Amino acid sequence: MTLSSAPGKVYLFGEHAVVYGEPAVPCAIERRARVGVERRSDGKLRVHAEDLSLDGFTVEYGASADDRPDVDVQESLLTAATQYVDSAIEQVREVTGKAEIGFDVTIESDIPLGAGLGSSAAVAVAAIDAGTRALGTTLEADELAERAYRTEHEVQEGQASRADTFCSATGGAVRVEGDDCRSIDAPDLPIVIGFDGGAGDTGELVAGVRRVREEYEFAADTIEAIGDVVRNGEDALAADDVEELGRLMNFNHGLLSALGVSSRSLDTMTWAARDAGALGAKLTGAGGGGCIVALDPTPETQTALSFTPGCEDAFRAALADEGVKRLE
Ligand code: MEV
Repeated sequence: MTLSSAPGKVYLFGEHAVVYGEPAVPCAIERRARVGVERRSDGKLRVHAEDLSLDGFTVEYGASADDRPDVDVQESLLTAATQYVDSAIEQVREVTGKAEIGFDVTIESDIPLGAGLGSSAAVAVAAIDAGTRALGTTLEADELAERAYRTEHEVQEGQASRADTFCSATGGAVRVEGDDCRSIDAPDLPIVIGFDGGAGDTGELVAGVRRVREEYEFAADTIEAIGDVVRNGEDALAADDVEELGRLMNFNHGLLSALGVSSRSLDTMTWAARDAGALGAKLTGAGGGGCIVALDPTPETQTALSFTPGCEDAFRAALADEGVKRLE
């Protein structure tokens, strides 16, 4: 078995707007997806996943598209997870030139699926890393990020930025603007996450933002305003000004909400965090349900969130300095 892990992430700033070329600052957190692969002699791909906030599942299908079950990608998160693995293994086949290779793939993850913590990017990064290493090729982080980006791009039908996959491959805090991705310094942030137990449909949410952006000039302005918030956020990060970071996160949440990607539970959790004294709080990722990220050095926000109706889990997350980890 060849085993790799990759971290999830929170967006400090800039999700959605990053799809339109504005900068974004995600940062990797110590919640990981672990993907193990073993070669198969029959060219098939067999995926077994556990701990994806779903019951364990097993799906088996062949290397050719015709052999695959006729499934609707959006029908369930479970199906979506297998699509990411399928597409990631296609990247492995392409980069190694071994088109007929098959694998048994096992996924274990402590990142809730589709909840704004970068589960699909982490699975894609870890699967590509483990798959290529199993075939004797070790990719540099940049190449790994690029291949994982192509995976997300394919599964999300062209609607993906490089932010999630680059962050998961390299770890730490990163700045992404178009094709330009780089690591940046960040202080040790007091990150608290609230999870409503649900998930958003990234493709639908990105498409919704596209629609309002095309329809209303002020929605296009809102996206540009998010870019301005991100640029201010970068200055606050460079100055280690955590209070200003919090204020800007509140702004960012308001603008995302205006674009229609928040939800009642995400709004309730952000307000519960602020009421408890968090320096700032916002949704993270595509929205529609899932997680918020708050900054609070005290235990108050985590405690308040754990008693907030609609919040299923509240936890602290340390910054993950390391991206992909080669475990076996
Ligand atoms: C999803 O985690 C973040 C979005 O900005 C989409 C993307 O960047 O690919 C909504």
